[in-house]
Amino acid sequence: MNAKPLSLLDSISGSISIVGSMNADYTVTTERLPKPGETINGGPLRILPGGKSGNQAAAAARLGAKVNMFGAVGSDDNADFLLGKLNDAGVDTSHVLHVEGASGTTVITVDDNGENTIVYSAGSNGKVSTDYINAQKDVLLQSSVLGLCLESPIDTVTATAKMCHDAGIKVLLNDSPFTDKLPDDLIEYSDVLLVNEHEMAQLLNIAEPGNGDWLGMDWNYIARSMHEFGFKEAVVTLGGDGAMVIENDRTYHVNAAKIDAVDTTGCGDAFMGTLLAGLSSGFSLNDSASLASYVAAYAATDYGAQASYGTSDQIEAFFKD
Ligand code: RIB
Repeated sequence: MNAKPLSLLDSISGSISIVGSMNADYTVTTERLPKPGETINGGPLRILPGGKSGNQAAAAARLGAKVNMFGAVGSDDNADFLLGKLNDAGVDTSHVLHVEGASGTTVITVDDNGENTIVYSAGSNGKVSTDYINAQKDVLLQSSVLGLCLESPIDTVTATAKMCHDAGIKVLLNDSPFTDKLPDDLIEYSDVLLVNEHEMAQLLNIAEPGNGDWLGMDWNYIARSMHEFGFKEAVVTLGGDGAMVIENDRTYHVNAAKIDAVDTTGCGDAFMGTLLAGLSSGFSLNDSASLASYVAAYAATDYGAQASYGTSDQIEAFFKD
């Protein structure tokens, strides 16, 4: 094991703003994922705290970053549940908006291999407006790094990126749920992109390797394509092969931390939360991604998204041997 990435856990001290979604994840485990039209038996229902942005916030806060969460919860019981879980993780939710109606929800199935399917219902997340973001400007701009994903209205995401980018805040965009139609403005105002390998290929119109050998691809060419697309910095996660980091003219490979996966739900969000925590603490993108590989792997060792995230001490202890 390379001890260096984990030693970075002792130096996390940055300040982050995260704008986006909070969801109650209605989760059932099954032996295998159902086919279309099929009914299969599952285990007991778990209601777990989730939402890509809430997850990113919880992951970063558990590592020791100061995290301000911006978004909306509804008027249902899930609102207090979601805010309470974020507070437990150390996230400041005092600026979260309260609106009438349902909070964000998902229906999630997890199979015996830890793979999942997720259906998302935006609820209150769909009511995060640019007016709300403008009203939060003073607090939003107190952080050095902003985290965004695409479970909120795209106009709000783009306006937030512009506001923070113009103020010199580093903007990280997780293109998830994935779209290959990112608005030009959002690309312009985002500094770092996080995608997985399949999303990268679709976004840049690059053929996937027939033999599944992503590491064998020409990553200098991919980096140039990423630059032409609009991102000088990007991280492409590669599942069991780790991740590739594109930092201007250089590319780096980050190894995957090896674990037995129980549930991969929210691992990408743990990765993003760690990138945010690392960059806000002054680490390079490469170092942040190296650490994120461990934090995301740890998140796969138990059920749920936020419910499976570790503190620095827990993650260090887990990978110690
Ligand atoms: O990335 C995992 C998350 O996606 C879940 O927590 C669910 O809420 C969906 O937003």
